[in-house]
Parts: sequence; C-alpha cells; structure tokens
Amino acid sequence: MNLFKTLACGLSLVAAVACGGDNDCKKECNGGDCATKCTKNECMEKSECKKNAAIENIMSRRSIRNYKQQAVPREVLNQIMECGVNAPNALNRQSWEVRIVDNPELQAQIKEAMMATGNERAAGCFYNAPVWVFIAQDSAFPFAAYDCGLMAENMMLAANAMGVGSVCLGSPVFMIKESPMKDAVLEKLGFSEGYELCLCISMGYPEGETPEAKPRDLNKVKFVD
Ligand SMILES: Cc1cc2nc3c(=O)[nH]c(=O)nc-3n(C[C@H](O)[C@H](O)[C@H](O)COP(=O)(O)O)c2cc1C
Repeated sequence: MNLFKTLACGLSLVAAVACGGDNDCKKECNGGDCATKCTKNECMEKSECKKNAAIENIMSRRSIRNYKQQAVPREVLNQIMECGVNAPNALNRQSWEVRIVDNPELQAQIKEAMMATGNERAAGCFYNAPVWVFIAQDSAFPFAAYDCGLMAENMMLAANAMGVGSVCLGSPVFMIKESPMKDAVLEKLGFSEGYELCLCISMGYPEGETPEAKPRDLNKVKFVD
C-alpha cells in the first residue's frame, strides 16, 4: 500500500472515530449532525479503509533490530501496553505481568547479568533498543504462555501502527534464567510470586530500512472439506 493510501486510511480512521465508530457512524448517517459529513457510502468506505489499515499494519510489521537512540515517550508506551492487555486471553485471567525498562542504568545491570552467562550473544540480545519489555506468565495457569504471546503481538502491532519498531525476544529469557545474577534481576523486575519470565520485547524508533518479510509457507494452512 502506498504512503498516500496509508495516510488516507489513517485520516479516515480518525474520521470514523470522530463519528463514534462504524455503527454510530451508520446510525448518525440516518440523521443528526453526522449526516452532513458522513453518508452511508462514506461509512462503507471507512469500514473498508479500517480493514485495509489493519491488514497493512499486520503485513508491514517486521522484527526491528536497529534503533534510533531516541526515547519512546511514556504516553506512547502506555498506549502500546493498553493495546497489549486488551488481547484475547483465556478466561480473561490476564495471566501476565509486564515490566518496562527504559532506564539505561538498569538496562546495563541486566545486560551485565546476561553477560555473566558467558554467552557471546548476551550483550546484544536486546539490540540497541531504548525500551526493554519483560513479560512474565502465571506458572500455574495452563494457557498463560498463549495469553502472553497474544499480548506481545498486540503490543508489537500497536507499536508498529505508531511508528515504533519492535522484536519479540526469547533469548534474554534463557540468558536471565541461566545467569548467576538471575535472582538480582528478577528481584528488580519484581514479578509477583508464581510468575515466571516468558518473553521479552525490544522497542524503539527504527533506524534504517524496514527489513523485507521473510518467506512464509501458506501451504501449512489448508481448508479441509
Ligand atoms: C517466541 C519468539 C522468540 C524470538 N526470539 C528472538 C530472539 O531471541 N532474537 C531475535 O533476534 N529474534 C527473535 N524472534 C523474532 C523472530 O526471529 C522473527 O519474528 C521471525 O524471524 C520472523 O520475522 P519477522 O518478525 O520480521 O516477520 C523471536 C520471535 C518469537 C515469536
């Protein structure tokens, strides 16, 4: 999708929200203030546009491994987190806890702990991201890992929609768990009793070109009659 279309969709989305969302928009199209601004056809277009924007967002998200050294404002991070916790999750147990670390001093301590494993990839496993997200799962809940994964994807898609790059990370989980300094890191992150580190995400404004999509095998998906 070209830039113009993306921008047009973005603007239409804003317009749809201004009309109170699709349903309200349609309702108001039969009368009321919105009628002049929002005809039924325009509502249909907005709905199409919304669909396109969602698909464009999913298809344009790629793992970002190079970041600008620019802070991500807390308001932006809060919006990303709000999208995260609105992910589908089993029984609405919200079997996750999240810690966001954007303080370089604490990042340096965590990096030191990971490097204490002797793993040569430890120093760079969060890449040069200014924001490190730690997600823990409720170890006693059998669906917690799914919940955390779905939440992480919601966060990464929300981030992408706001121009914030991200990459989902499993390696820091292993490095922290294997580190002789593990207890200090986990104490600092302060997850509740019974929660175990599950996933991490690097976030920040991307530096350079967005990587091309890696090949995907659609043959793994089949309709069965
Ligand atoms: C559970 C999980 C763990 C991952 N761990 C790492 C990691 O430790 N380091 C890394 O660079 N990328 C990691 N990735 C990112 C994947 O490599 C990436 O999503 C995949 O190659 C597809 O590329 P794309 O995200 O650009 O579409 C992880 C992804 C997932 C879902």
